[in-house]
Amino acid sequence: MKILVTGGAGYIGSQVVLDLCRRGDEPVVLDNLSTGHQAAVMRTCVSGVRFIRGDVSDRPLVERILQEEEIEAVIHLAADSLVGESTEDPSKYFRNNISGGLTLLDAMVATGVKKIIFSSTAAVYGEPSTVPIPEDHPLQPANPYGFSKLTFEGMLDAYEKAYGLNFISLRYFNAAGADPEGKVGEDHRPETHLIPLLLQTALGLRDRIQLFGTDYPTSDGTCIRDYIHVADLSQAHLLALDALNRGIASTVYNLGNGNGYSNRQVIAAVQQVTGEEIPVEEAPRRLGDPAVLVASSEKIRAELGWQPKYPQLEAIIATAWEWHRQHPQGYGDKRNCCEKGG
Ligand SMILES: NC(=O)c1ccc[n+]([C@@H]2O[C@H](COP(=O)([O-])OP(=O)(O)OC[C@H]3O[C@@H](n4cnc5c(N)ncnc54)[C@H](O)[C@@H]3O)[C@@H](O)[C@H]2O)c1
Repeated sequence: MKILVTGGAGYIGSQVVLDLCRRGDEPVVLDNLSTGHQAAVMRTCVSGVRFIRGDVSDRPLVERILQEEEIEAVIHLAADSLVGESTEDPSKYFRNNISGGLTLLDAMVATGVKKIIFSSTAAVYGEPSTVPIPEDHPLQPANPYGFSKLTFEGMLDAYEKAYGLNFISLRYFNAAGADPEGKVGEDHRPETHLIPLLLQTALGLRDRIQLFGTDYPTSDGTCIRDYIHVADLSQAHLLALDALNRGIASTVYNLGNGNGYSNRQVIAAVQQVTGEEIPVEEAPRRLGDPAVLVASSEKIRAELGWQPKYPQLEAIIATAWEWHRQHPQGYGDKRNCCEKGG
C-alpha cells in the first residue's frame, strides 16, 4: 500500500516508515526537516524510500504528491510539539499544527484520499480528573500545543461528516526507546524528553539533569508519566491502517502502557541500565505539569488487538541506551546535540 507519511523524518515518523517498509508497504515521506533528519529516512527502507523535502502547508505540492504517487492513506505526524514553546509562541503552533493540517485535509478531499491516521497527544486532556485516563475523559488542554491537536481532531470529525474522510486519531503518551534493531532512534534538538536527557547525561554529554518538582502528591514527590516504546507506538499505526482498510468507523485511541513511572523511578532505572551515576539538580515545578498522566489503552487493546511488546521501563531504556551509545551525536548533522549544563 502507498502511504504518505508527513513528518516521516522525525523520531516517531522514521520508526513508522521503517515498520511500513518491513511489512512491504510503500511509504512516501513529506518532511520540511524543521526538526527531523533526512539521515533517519535513509536508514529505513532497504530498497530506498521516496523522500520529499517540503511543507504540509504547500497545497500544490501536497496535491501533486497525493496524485502522482497514487497515495491511498496518510499518516500525519508532522507538527511542532514543544509545550513550553507553544506557550511562548502560540502563533507558530496554530499556523503549523492547525493551518498546515487544514491544508493537508483540503488536499486529501480535493484528490479523493479518504484515510488518515493522526498523531494526537495526551495533552488534549489537560489536568486529569481520573487516572488512568480513558478516551472519553473531558478534553481541556492546558497549553496551545494541546489545543492545536484537539482542534485538528475537531476538524477530522467535521471532515468525516461533510466529506466522508475516515480517520483514526492516536493520542500518544510519552514515546521513548529506539528501534530494537538499532536502525533509527531519538534525536530531538533541543531535547526536552526525560529519558534521552538522562542518557545524554550518562554519556557525559550533559553534566546533570534537572528534576522539576519534588513536592507533587505522588509516592516520591515527583511527576508520574506513562512511557510507551516507540516500536509499540509504531505497531499501533499499522493496526490502525489495517482497521481503516477494513472499513472501521472513525475513532480515537489512547496509546500508553497503563503503567506510570515517577521521574525518580526513571532516573533509578537509567542508572541501573547504564551503570552510570546521574547527577540530579532538584528544581521547582514547571507551570502546567500535571502530577500524574497515565493512559488507559484498553480500547485499542480490545478493538484492534494492540499488545505492547516492550511494556517494561528497563526494556524501553535499554533500546534507547543502545541507540545513544552507538550515536552519541544523534544523526550527526550540524546542529549541536547538547548544551553542557542540563
Ligand atoms: N514524542 C512524543 O512523546 C509525542 C507524544 C505525543 C504526541 N506526539 C506527536 O507525534 C508526532 C511526532 O512526534 P516526534 O516526537 O516524532 O517529533 P519530531 O519533531 O521528531 O517529528 C516531527 C517531524 O515533522 C516534521 N515537520 C514539522 N512540521 C512540518 C511541516 N509543516 N511540514 C512537513 N514536515 C514537518 C519535522 O521536521 C519532523 O521531522 C508529532 O505530531 C507530535 O506532536 C509526540
